[in-house]
Amino acid sequence: MEKENPIVQTGHEVLRLQAQPVRAEEIRTPDFQALLTRMVTAMREAPGVGLAAPQLGVSLQVLVLEDRVELQATLTKEELAERERGPVPLRVFINPTLTPIGEEQVTFFEGCLSVAGYAALVPRFREVEVSGLDERGQPVTWRVKGWPARILQHEVDHLKGTLYVDRMVSVSFGTLPQVKARFGGKPAVDVRKTFGVE
Ligand code: CO
Repeated sequence: MEKENPIVQTGHEVLRLQAQPVRAEEIRTPDFQALLTRMVTAMREAPGVGLAAPQLGVSLQVLVLEDRVELQATLTKEELAERERGPVPLRVFINPTLTPIGEEQVTFFEGCLSVAGYAALVPRFREVEVSGLDERGQPVTWRVKGWPARILQHEVDHLKGTLYVDRMVSVSFGTLPQVKARFGGKPAVDVRKTFGVE
């Protein structure tokens, strides 16, 4: 079945633009709320754990994230623990600013709905703090580590026209079936070693 909210694929210029800030008074308008609904719907139907407005062709600084337990079912308990990944309820950030906490970076395979079908190792800060406005226009700050911190860095990058392929360990880039066949269920330390990554 045709997806109702097709996700813009890499090569389209909207993914390379600096997205525009949203005016606070716009947030409660029906048009803006409809955009949020479209973003959540597109993220869930993909399915993915995060989405940025440019991925729907809208160059605005808006991101949504949600990590449902169903999406974690393909990973082992050990893989989830290494990734510091657990269920995250839906969150919306408008005009987000992101600050890394500490220096520590961790490298895992990561994909993107706008680079459909591929994944690569990407180093990300283990912990970040994000500040912005929520879906009602209220200021929010969230300090978080592990997988949600990775999602946030990935989505905030989208708002600046950056894709994970700009940050990846390029020798690790592969199709999802290849990556899964070679590295599914393997300890991260062994996966990294394969590519000479710390
Ligand atoms: Co993405």
